[in-house]
Amino acid sequence: CLTPEILSLHQLEGKIAVVTDVLRATSCMVAGLNAGVKSVIPVMTVEEALDYSKKGYITAGERGGVKVKEFTIGNSPQEHMQEEYHGKDICMTTTNGTVAITEAKKRADQIVIGALLNVTVVAEFLKSAQKDVVIICAGWKGNPSLEDTLFAGALIDRLQEECNLTDDASFMALTQYKACKDNLVESIQFNASHAKRLSGLKAKSDLAFCAQEDYCDALPILRNGEITI
Ligand code: MLT
Repeated sequence: CLTPEILSLHQLEGKIAVVTDVLRATSCMVAGLNAGVKSVIPVMTVEEALDYSKKGYITAGERGGVKVKEFTIGNSPQEHMQEEYHGKDICMTTTNGTVAITEAKKRADQIVIGALLNVTVVAEFLKSAQKDVVIICAGWKGNPSLEDTLFAGALIDRLQEECNLTDDASFMALTQYKACKDNLVESIQFNASHAKRLSGLKAKSDLAFCAQEDYCDALPILRNGEITI
């Protein structure tokens, strides 16, 4: 599913949803939880996040790529990994990533948080689960995005012997990944529209970090509204 806006075309009941927003929401979640963050609660609005801050949560996220003024941290994996947040609970809202998770939450059986940073461990989990899977790419405001499509392709590539692809988007993602896999960083940096946006916002260093495959083997799962490893 290349953007959550077409999610109704995919039947999620009884399936596992893998949600990704490589630049940068799910990369932050994977990197932060791997570093020691205790949990992440994804919410839709800034107001909801500020309510959580009254209960002691760290607030994180952005609008249009820029940190929300009232929040503790923005949407850079480097911020989420800082030692002062180890053992802490984060409440997060972003332009597209937390929207995709919220949409998936309405219907899927189980929700896994994926990024290039943890793609192989997600694949291993799916192999052991033996269930149908929908990969939900956050995209950008209703449009597919290259980096999320590449994640979908990378995941499908690792599952090829296990699965039948049931739609053209999966085949397109796989083909795109195979064409770019030897230079993922450059492909994302030079071609992805959100990479260009982030470069303008001085978040260029996040691009190379988020484009790494298998930086860690953290497997974040959403349970009862909360994402933990
Ligand atoms: C999003 O949810 O749209 C992104 O994570 C935006 C960003 O890179 O900050």
